[in-house]
Amino acid sequence: GGVAVREENGESRQRAGSGGSGDGAGRSVGAPPVRVAAAGAEPRRDLPGGEQPLSIVVLGASGDLARKKIYPTLWWLFRDGLLPDVTHVTGFARTPLSVTELRERCHPHLKVSPGEEELLGRFFERQSFVQGQYGDEGTFRALDQHLRALPGGPRAHRLFYLALPPTLYGTVTRHLRDTCMAPGWTRVIVEKPFGRDLPSSDALSAHLGALFREEQLYRIDHYLGKEMVQNLMVLRFGNRLFGPIWNRDNVACVVVTFKEPFGTEGRGGYFDDFGIIRDVMQNHLLQMLCLVAMEKPVSAGADDVRDEKVKVLKSIGPVQLQDVVLGQYVGDPEGPPERRRGYLEDPTVPPDSTTPTFAAAILRVANERWDGVPFVLRCGKALNERKAEVRLQFRPVPGDIFANQCKRNELVVRVQPDEAVYAKMMTKKPGMFLHPEESELDLTYGSRYKGVKLPDAYERLLLDVICGNQMHFVRSDELREAWRIFTPLLDAIERSGQKPIPYRHGSRGPPEADELLKRAGFLYEGTYRWVDPHQR
Ligand code: BG6
Repeated sequence: GGVAVREENGESRQRAGSGGSGDGAGRSVGAPPVRVAAAGAEPRRDLPGGEQPLSIVVLGASGDLARKKIYPTLWWLFRDGLLPDVTHVTGFARTPLSVTELRERCHPHLKVSPGEEELLGRFFERQSFVQGQYGDEGTFRALDQHLRALPGGPRAHRLFYLALPPTLYGTVTRHLRDTCMAPGWTRVIVEKPFGRDLPSSDALSAHLGALFREEQLYRIDHYLGKEMVQNLMVLRFGNRLFGPIWNRDNVACVVVTFKEPFGTEGRGGYFDDFGIIRDVMQNHLLQMLCLVAMEKPVSAGADDVRDEKVKVLKSIGPVQLQDVVLGQYVGDPEGPPERRRGYLEDPTVPPDSTTPTFAAAILRVANERWDGVPFVLRCGKALNERKAEVRLQFRPVPGDIFANQCKRNELVVRVQPDEAVYAKMMTKKPGMFLHPEESELDLTYGSRYKGVKLPDAYERLLLDVICGNQMHFVRSDELREAWRIFTPLLDAIERSGQKPIPYRHGSRGPPEADELLKRAGFLYEGTYRWVDPHQR
């Protein structure tokens, strides 16, 4: 079998076992002596020496994703001693860049603490850069030569990160397959967008599927790397408490929310082509829905979990236009400067764009557990706050004896910011009388796990790729179902030429979305107040 890694979090067996999946996976993730424990983790036991070298190639090294996310993540993994001993990182781009320039570009995002400079220096000693054209096979042969010439190169596993515009995926993956396959395992990380509808996504999947096996492909949905999204599995299947009430007999409505307080600023070019449904709802929110709605998998193994997610998706019909509210933000002339500009005033957005920046939709999971329970997904940019959460609202208690004073229970999993799980419930108001009062069972991470730093989603996911664990990655059949659910809606929106409802930058979004929620059976009482324990 393979070597155990990060045993303290109980994932070692899957990771080690994945070596049998056919791509030579999960062998050696060794590391220099641990300096900093992985965020929130206990000191690791049983870390192997990392016999097998690893080459990581960042394609699109001069771009935003590489600079802001991938290089910083690699640095954190290196810093925390989580990369194999002999790991080298090669940047690849059209723009020629020296390692020094690369370092300067990344620096503002690396979050280097005092005392880590020397380690950072060692990290950059493992960097190199290859310049070339994406369409030119010769360049990729040169890349292959470069990788072979690195220390340990002739034996190294290879991890290719496609931090590229999707238009380049086709050519680049073909060249990688033809010229750059590793002597050990080869894995390819792909970022969304995976197409823009069912046909284009199918075409991309067919292309990738002809070049690589599914075990070699890692489709990132970074929400699957978030602490509280991963926690959904443990909350649901590690407790006796929730299982019996997790169904249509008890749950009135499920709401999955994503809110961001800023607009598209500068990213309008990409965004306008996609819109909020493709950008957030079809992937991040739908993934969360799956984890809430799925049946208990046969095991916590990657494919058993993904099998259950696919089953949920198969039970969801195409979203209907009448179950959707679309919005687009407009500037708030009286607001602070950052809120004055509306979506259409973003210079990277066409002035007559009808692309939604807000969407709320009702989905229905037509299976035995969930028939009749609406799942509302809502997401938007330029709203009043940053928040991502999953909320289950339960049905009222039958046979009321408290003169209608009891409010519905809710279970909330707050993904960000300030990770928390809390259950809104009724309790006796402390004191002389028998009065029910709204309160909560509260697991706020900031107080229960004080000082514990949670790893960034990308950090977790990249480590998973290195370890060969595909659980938190999107399988091709999942992707296909996700597009099947949303493509008819996206087509209908386009055909209808429907204009999204304007909402003010910094507001809660169009009031019509609250109406939709009400229609879905969600009861907002407005009476519950949560007081931050630190402020009490
Ligand atoms: C990305 C979307 O996938 O997720 C962005 O493309 C969005 O539009 C981002 O801002 C949100 O991620 P997070 O981790 O900041 O919630």
